[in-house]
Amino acid sequence: MSRLTRRRALCLLGGPVLAGAGLGFVREAAGEDHAHMADTADGPVHEAHEAAGHAGFAGSGVVDPAVNGFDPSAMVRDFDWGKTRRLASGRVLREWELVAVDKEFQVAPGVSYAGWAYNGRVPGPTLRAREGDLLRIRFANASAHPHTIHFHGIHPAFMDGIPGIGAGLIGTGGSTVYEFDAHPFGLHLYHCHAGPLSAHIAKGLYGAFIVDPKRARPEADELVMVMNGFDTNFDQANEIYAVNTVGFHYLYRPVVVERGAPVRIYLVNILEFDAVNSFHIHANFFHYYPTGTSLTPAEYTDTIAQVQGQRGILELAFPHEGKYMFHAHKTEFAELGWMGFFDVRS
Ligand code: CU
Ligand code: CU
Repeated sequence: MSRLTRRRALCLLGGPVLAGAGLGFVREAAGEDHAHMADTADGPVHEAHEAAGHAGFAGSGVVDPAVNGFDPSAMVRDFDWGKTRRLASGRVLREWELVAVDKEFQVAPGVSYAGWAYNGRVPGPTLRAREGDLLRIRFANASAHPHTIHFHGIHPAFMDGIPGIGAGLIGTGGSTVYEFDAHPFGLHLYHCHAGPLSAHIAKGLYGAFIVDPKRARPEADELVMVMNGFDTNFDQANEIYAVNTVGFHYLYRPVVVERGAPVRIYLVNILEFDAVNSFHIHANFFHYYPTGTSLTPAEYTDTIAQVQGQRGILELAFPHEGKYMFHAHKTEFAELGWMGFFDVRS
């Protein structure tokens, strides 16, 4: 089996997309019949499919969630509020346990990645709290490498989860407790801050961290999307791009939403090695709240860009039924996996 390089991945995935076979993937995902595909499935398209087979890269289909132990279709609506109890002061104490492990998982069918994960999943659990809660995160390191958890938010240096300050690096078998206030409200993130930082983030040690305003946002169908990528041959360039880790997952398993219902997307960019990521939705517009720190949207648009560590909240509703594509508007990323569908139903 030949190694998957970025150029090869683009040839196998993006090539067919450019040549029109991508429409085949789309039709397949949309459940349309294969008769039309036969018309286009000759020449370069056929070759591309064969090449994909030889590379052991299916180029289509989903990774069996049983293989990874996590399922992007479940993760997209999975919010972890922790264990809570009310303190004598009346404040809510919210506690979580996070364990760093070494873990191999598939980022596309047949494409394995030897990564690191919080609680066995990439991204790690989406931690959620209310502004003013007291947060306590018990961190244990069961990985063969030293790690930390660095949270975005406002807190003392001692709790910042970087090497050399406070508990510093947590070695194999070690543990620590991070404790701080949930502040400010908004959409934040957490990630390992051990060096080399690019490796510790690229390997999968990150997750979304949501602090709700004291007065909750209006009811909505809430989704969390962490934009990431994987350098499967360790050449400092990604071969696979995704939302919630598995390339093209939501192409084959669209995110089903209700027509007319409010949808809120918590969007985080943690992509390593590339300067900018983006999110674009088809046939619709959304209100955008950068970092989620204001209740007044900053923009009404169909495309936004985020550098690494940037995040924001998108609010929208779908007025019409049907399948609507969402993807990085950096088309190369879309062709390498960062592309999916909303399936809007009544
Ligand atoms: Cu680390
Ligand atoms: Cu950060």
